[in-house]
Amino acid sequence: MLCGGIALSHSHHRPAIHRPVLTLGKDARARIKHQRPLVLWLTGLSGAGKSSIADRVEQKLWRCGCHTMLLDGDALRSGLNRDLTFSDAARAENIRRTAEVARLMLEAGLIVICSLISPFRRERLEARRLFGADEFLEVFVDAPLEECMRRDPKGLYARAVAGEIPDFTGISSPYEAPESPEIHLRTDLDDVDTLAERVLDALRQRGAIARTA
Ligand code: ADX
Repeated sequence: MLCGGIALSHSHHRPAIHRPVLTLGKDARARIKHQRPLVLWLTGLSGAGKSSIADRVEQKLWRCGCHTMLLDGDALRSGLNRDLTFSDAARAENIRRTAEVARLMLEAGLIVICSLISPFRRERLEARRLFGADEFLEVFVDAPLEECMRRDPKGLYARAVAGEIPDFTGISSPYEAPESPEIHLRTDLDDVDTLAERVLDALRQRGAIARTA
C-alpha cells in the first residue's frame, strides 16, 4: 500500500525484522518505579467525560507517586494520528496506533491512561490482546447519548445533527458499548472526583497500586 508516497507493508509482505535481545524488560524498568505497569483504556461517547476522568485519575495517581502517561484521542489526532479521518478504517487505525504506543509505554514501566472514543468492540479487543490479562483494564465512561448531546461541550453534536459533520459517533456512526468492562462509570449519576476515586479503588483491589495509596 502507498500512503503519502511511503510504501506500507501488509502483514503477508512483512520485511524480515528481528527483535534485538534486550537486557532490561518492563519488569525491571517498572521495579525502580515501585509500581506495576498497566493500561487503563477509557472508552465512551464524545462528551461522556473521558478526558475529565482521565485527567483526574492521572492527578490522583501522580499524588500517590505513580509514574503515568495520558494518551488522549484528541491530542494524538493533532500529532501522531493527524493523517486519520473518522471513517471506520481510520478509527480502527487510530485505536491500533494508540494501543501500540500504550504498549511501548507499558514496556517503559508506566501506568498508561488511554482516552479515546474507540467505538468498535473488535478493535478494543485487539488492543486488549496486546497486553497480559492483568495489564489491561477497560473503563466504560458511560452517559446516555441524550445527556452527551445536551452537554455538547464542543458544539459538535449540534453540527453533526445539522449534517455538517459526517460519521459522527452516536449520530451517524455507531458506538458499540463494552459488554463486560472491568470498570463501568456513569458520569450522569456521579461527579468526576467520585468516579476517579472509584478507578483508584479498583486498582487498589487488584493490588495494582498500594492499598495505602
Ligand atoms: S475515535 O473514534 O477514533 O476513537 P477519538 O477519541 O480519537 O475518536 O477522537 C474523538 C474526538 O474527535 C471527539 O472528542 C471530537 O472532539 C472529535 N471529532 C471530530 N469529528 C468527529 C466524528 N466524526 N466523530 C467523533 N468525534 C469527532
